[in-house]
Amino acid sequence: MSTAAAEHAPGPGSADGIAARARGLTKAYGSGETTVLALDSVDVDIARGRFTAVMGPSGSGKSTLMHCLAGLDNVSAGQVWLGDTEITGLKDRELTRLRRDRIGFMFQSFNLIPTLNAAENITLPMDIAGKKPDDKWLDQVIDTLGLRDRLEHRPSQLSGGQQQRVACARALASRPELIFADEPTGNLDSRAGLEVLGFLREAVDQLGQTVVMVTHDPGAAAHSDLVLFLGDGRIVDEMERPTAEAVLERMRLFTGGNPQTPGFDVIRSQFGDGEPTSPEER
Ligand SMILES: Nc1ncnc2c1ncn2[C@@H]1O[C@H](COP(=O)(O)OP(=O)(O)OP(=O)(O)O)[C@@H](O)[C@H]1O
Ligand SMILES: [Mg+2]
Repeated sequence: MSTAAAEHAPGPGSADGIAARARGLTKAYGSGETTVLALDSVDVDIARGRFTAVMGPSGSGKSTLMHCLAGLDNVSAGQVWLGDTEITGLKDRELTRLRRDRIGFMFQSFNLIPTLNAAENITLPMDIAGKKPDDKWLDQVIDTLGLRDRLEHRPSQLSGGQQQRVACARALASRPELIFADEPTGNLDSRAGLEVLGFLREAVDQLGQTVVMVTHDPGAAAHSDLVLFLGDGRIVDEMERPTAEAVLERMRLFTGGNPQTPGFDVIRSQFGDGEPTSPEER
C-alpha cells in the first residue's frame, strides 16, 4: 500500500519522506480544574529514514507525543498521519492492524510479559499477528543486543538493562518501518547503551528505518539526525546534526533564559545548573 506513496498527490500525510505527521495535536488529561494539557497544538513532521530525538523536561509531553503519534493513545484535538494514513478517526481494529504491521515501540516501562521467556517476549507481537520472523534478521538483533545466552530467562530473572534489551529486540523483531523508543538507554550501562544506539543508527542507515527516540542524555541525542526540544507540551526548538556539546550548549541557552522562548523556564527547571530541582522548590 505505502509503496505507491510516491505516486500519490502529496496530501497532508502523504508527502514524500514523511513517516509520521501531526497537525494541531492536542492532548488533555482529566477535566475541569484538574485538566493537564500534555500536548498543546503540536505540529510535527517525522522524516522517513531519519533518526529523530525528542528531549525536554520530565512532564513536558515526550511520552504522550510518542503515544499519540503511534496511535497508542487517542488525541483530544488535531490530526495524526502515519505515512498516507490518517490514524485519528481510524477504528480500533484498523489502528491495531496498522500499528502491528508498521510500528515498533519501546516503552519507558518495558511491558514484558512475566510468564514468557525472553525469546517468547521478543517474538510475541509477531506470534499474535501470525507472522513468521525473518530468522537471519532476528539472529542479528539478538546477537547485537547480547541476548543470545538469556533467551530462556523470564523477565524476573533478567537485570533491568537486559529487560530493556529484550524490549528493544521485540520492537525491532518485525523490522517495522517506524520505531518509537521511549528512553531506550535509560536503564543501560554506557556500553550497552552505546550498542543500542548504534543498532538504532544502523537500522536507519543500513535498513532505511525511521526512529523516533526520547532521551534525557545529550550523548544519546548526538546519535540522531535531528533533536526536537519539547517544553510544556510544545516544540520549543530543534537542532539538525546534533553533537553532545551543541545539545548541552542549547540547554544552557535555555537556562541563560531567552524569555521569548516558550517553555524556557520549564527547561531551566530540569537542566538548570546541573542540580535537580523539585517542583516544590520552583
Ligand atoms: N494518564 C495520565 N493521566 C493524567 N495525566 C497524565 C497522564 N499521562 C501523562 N499525564 C501528564 O501529562 C504530562 C506529560 O506527561 P508525559 O508522560 O508525556 O511526560 P514526559 O515528557 O514523557 O516525562 P518523563 O520525562 O518524566 O517521562 C505530565 O504532566 C503528566 O503528568
Ligand atoms: Mg516519558
